[in-house]
Amino acid sequence: MGIKEKDLITMGQLSKEQIEEILSTAKEMKNIIKRDIKKIPTLRGKVVVNLFYEPSTRTRTSFELAGKYMSADVINISTSASSVVKGESLRDTGYTLQSMGADIVVIRHSMAGAPQLLGNYLNARVINAGDGFHEHPTQALLDMLTIKEQLGSFAGLKVAIIGDILHSRVARSNLSGLTKMGADVWLCGPPTLVPPGIETLGGKVTYNMDEALQDADVVMMLRIQLERQKAGLFPSLKEYSQLYGLTQEKIKLASKNSLILHPGPMNRGIEIAGNTADSSQSHIREQVTNGVAIRMALLYLMLGQQKGE
Ligand code: CP
Repeated sequence: MGIKEKDLITMGQLSKEQIEEILSTAKEMKNIIKRDIKKIPTLRGKVVVNLFYEPSTRTRTSFELAGKYMSADVINISTSASSVVKGESLRDTGYTLQSMGADIVVIRHSMAGAPQLLGNYLNARVINAGDGFHEHPTQALLDMLTIKEQLGSFAGLKVAIIGDILHSRVARSNLSGLTKMGADVWLCGPPTLVPPGIETLGGKVTYNMDEALQDADVVMMLRIQLERQKAGLFPSLKEYSQLYGLTQEKIKLASKNSLILHPGPMNRGIEIAGNTADSSQSHIREQVTNGVAIRMALLYLMLGQQKGE
């Protein structure tokens, strides 16, 4: 089936069947990551460009490794050391990369809609690696792979997403993907950090962390962005941590074998206690490994399949 649309911008564009195909392809890709020699020839001759206008450790590195494990040529553009600082537009940067042979551009940008805009200009394929507060579809897919590996399926699972929902592209992509697959998604945070009306997208909203945690199968903690306190969206980090931080005590409200997830980077001791992040229920490091597998699967499905496959 593959990904028929030229670009991957949102979780909403993927059908249930496409999500299942991406997850099962990623499962196969994990076998390659586990090998001593992590190399297959699938993308030989293909060019993957990472165009990151915002900082990233996990997403950029995993796209780079994913491409390299499949023998693509991978180029990383750090916009702070590129002609972007001389005022080059997104469109001209995109045309420049395409003219040099880019087959796919992976873009992270602070402006929602930038990946879609770039995709409209280019013949090369485009993957959204996070755009503003909009979406981060490859993060949702790696979260879903982690959940599927541990719990088998999504239907009927209670997934609590806790923290700064308002500014979280991770929350929006997970809400879209997980509800499509039949999970019961709860969104929880201080009222100032939960956008009014988000429940119309299919989740349940609570401002009470205990209610979100009660019998949850999956607890996904979000990074609290420290600059939000300066904006007056919550009184203090200490109060935020007391009301919305995950601890060993609070996780007892969730199902006995609940999974703890966090997209990273984490603020240990604020949204999640250090010992909770490192506990046996935490799958945060597995999420990182799954990030490479998901990005291999996407590059394969978008670049590596022959016509008719
Ligand atoms: N989860 C995530 O997107 O992490 P990075 O910002 O390090 O890519």
